[in-house]
Amino acid sequence: MSDALLFFRTFLANPFAIGSVIPSSKHLVADLLDGIDFTTARTVVEYGPGTGVFTDEILRRLAPDAKLLCIEIMDDFYNTLSARYDDPRLVLVHGSAADVERLLAEHGLGQADAVVSGLPFTSLPEEVRHAILGGTARALKPEGRFVMYQYSQFVMGHIKKYFAAIQTRFTMLNVPPAFSFYCDAPIVSAPTPEASPSRS
Ligand SMILES: C[S@@+](CC[C@H](N)C(=O)[O-])C[C@H]1O[C@@H](n2cnc3c(N)ncnc32)[C@H](O)[C@@H]1O
Repeated sequence: MSDALLFFRTFLANPFAIGSVIPSSKHLVADLLDGIDFTTARTVVEYGPGTGVFTDEILRRLAPDAKLLCIEIMDDFYNTLSARYDDPRLVLVHGSAADVERLLAEHGLGQADAVVSGLPFTSLPEEVRHAILGGTARALKPEGRFVMYQYSQFVMGHIKKYFAAIQTRFTMLNVPPAFSFYCDAPIVSAPTPEASPSRS
């Protein structure tokens, strides 16, 4: 089965967890990853690799002595990626991004230099979004960077609670066009879920 068909079938079965009908474009991949300094990054995390469009490019840019922890929740995506990659720098985990701190520790990795997210935050339940953003802020080094894309700026109100400095960029050449968010200065004293804005 092609990656495009696998992606579409998985979307039909799990629309809120996938959030898109096709994988991201190479333009969006480049725009988002250009926000990471791969010359210094030694521990990189990717959430929601799907069919691996970001994973391919992260591995292409990643230093030989660096590690990439990829966390994918869907069985079919995990199984496809697991069969595809044979790279000693890649640690592929079948699980949830909400467990990033535990997964980094279990694999002997310290705090991350960068986290790359393909998660559809807008359609995730509030408590999952809170757990992932809070866990990400704590999982990053103080100078670490979180990069993510979304199809709207809705998520800005949420990520501002976890990152003190955020820049955005718009990529037209993606279906649909997307915003990239480059988030610095993680705030580790995370708010309670009740204090977070509700979904709308
Ligand atoms: C919009 S797709 C992005 C796929 C790929 N990164 C891309 O850009 O083409 C969202 C991905 O997040 C995964 N996902 C959703 N919730 C997740 C979670 N809690 N933990 C890890 N992966 C999750 C989905 O299975 C899917 O692979």
